[in-house]
Amino acid sequence: MVLPILKLGDPTLRKIAIEVPVEEISSPSIQSLIDDLIETKRAANAIGIAAPQVGSLKRIFLVEVLSDTPSYRPRYPLTIVINPKITFLSEDYFEFYEGCLSIPDLRGAVPRCLDIRVEGFDRNANLIDLKVRGVSAGIFQHELDHLDGVLFLDKVENSKTLCTWEEYRKHSEASFRAQVKEVIFKYGC
Ligand code: NI
Repeated sequence: MVLPILKLGDPTLRKIAIEVPVEEISSPSIQSLIDDLIETKRAANAIGIAAPQVGSLKRIFLVEVLSDTPSYRPRYPLTIVINPKITFLSEDYFEFYEGCLSIPDLRGAVPRCLDIRVEGFDRNANLIDLKVRGVSAGIFQHELDHLDGVLFLDKVENSKTLCTWEEYRKHSEASFRAQVKEVIFKYGC
């Protein structure tokens, strides 16, 4: 079921989500929440979503970049992470333009680590231990922030980068895409 997405100003987006006990991952309520998150994310043509964005304070997010998603990011397969932990593996950062389903029509540049380890559980309660590098790494960091009540706006270091989609396309997209190409070249993703 496609769920309504909470928007900036809703206090739930600022709360800390709670861990899902591993034995509850297979429960119908968690499984249907995951199904709803997938459907809601795809209906919105987004690249990620976190449970608090649909009003559920559980530590669950998912990432998926489809080829027809309007994003500069390369394809990334559907990855559901429950109780995620992220470790930064390098000091390499890059400022990515981000947007958020909960903050419609606003973009801004956020520094993200380019080399991370993601640990947690998948929807079958199997352990996940992934290395995520390059452009894709930023999505995982954005989604984890949602579980801690943090929005990308809080991490925009230069507020002059904030812009609407229309102005982003007009003034920033071309040069930003050229910089992203270099990251993809360096990291292969
Ligand atoms: Ni978001």
